[in-house]
Amino acid sequence: MHALIINGSPRIKKYSNTDKILSEFTEGMRESGATFEQFEVSNRRQWDTIREKFETAEHILIAIPLYFECIPGLLVEFLETLTPRSLSKSTVPGDVSKKPSELVDECAAAKKPTMSFILQGGFGEGAQLRCGEAYLKILAGKLGCNYGGTLVKGDNFSIRFDETQRDRVAKPYREMGRIYGRDSAFESEECKAFTGPEIFPAYIRLLVGVLFKTVVKKGFNKMAADWGCTRPLTDRPYESK
Ligand SMILES: Cc1cc2nc3c(=O)[nH]c(=O)nc-3n(C[C@H](O)[C@H](O)[C@H](O)COP(=O)(O)O)c2cc1C
Repeated sequence: MHALIINGSPRIKKYSNTDKILSEFTEGMRESGATFEQFEVSNRRQWDTIREKFETAEHILIAIPLYFECIPGLLVEFLETLTPRSLSKSTVPGDVSKKPSELVDECAAAKKPTMSFILQGGFGEGAQLRCGEAYLKILAGKLGCNYGGTLVKGDNFSIRFDETQRDRVAKPYREMGRIYGRDSAFESEECKAFTGPEIFPAYIRLLVGVLFKTVVKKGFNKMAADWGCTRPLTDRPYESK
């Protein structure tokens, strides 16, 4: 199989966790004999090429970081410029003796591509990515594609700020790449199990809550001060007094 891969992060390639994940993932694809072309939504100069490739690709994989429990705005902007495959010229066979409705049915049966997704976030619980996953299922249909499933995984924060943790977090994606290269989709049990815990046990949630109110809060305050922020982070200047 040959896949068109789109990194949907607004962060440039060098700083993108999604890119580090894709490096491992595509290594796995190679091992299973699959090929790919990768493009970055963060690079607007590539948008025309991606649109062109999207017209004829059989397998499309969009890798997406979760931003505010949603998909990044820049990716939405790009997706809105795509012509759904069911409407694109390249899917219509040139048989003038047939009714348009017959042609559309034929196209749907013969040429519908498969669109799959990697949806990854910083926080560890799978549950917070499920809303995005449901949206992606609808999105594939709206873009005239069969839905090939979503590989859902949290706990990716440390790829960026902790080099020593990078391999631990990113390496397991290699096996997922092997499976995607083999199945052209994420429907296997291994892919479902890859998500990890759906919700943390109560004692971990309690601990995280306390950490956020103390150590993490202190860290955010220091970060803001280092950036020259002189107001408290809880400030709401837009509220009338
Ligand atoms: C503006 C912003 C919002 C984020 N919101 C969430 C979120 O709601 N849930 C989450 O788990 N991670 C969130 N993250 C973390 C990213 O999903 C995570 O670090 C991801 O690996 C970033 O990939 P990228 O570097 O390719 O953009 C957010 C990160 C940023 C910068």
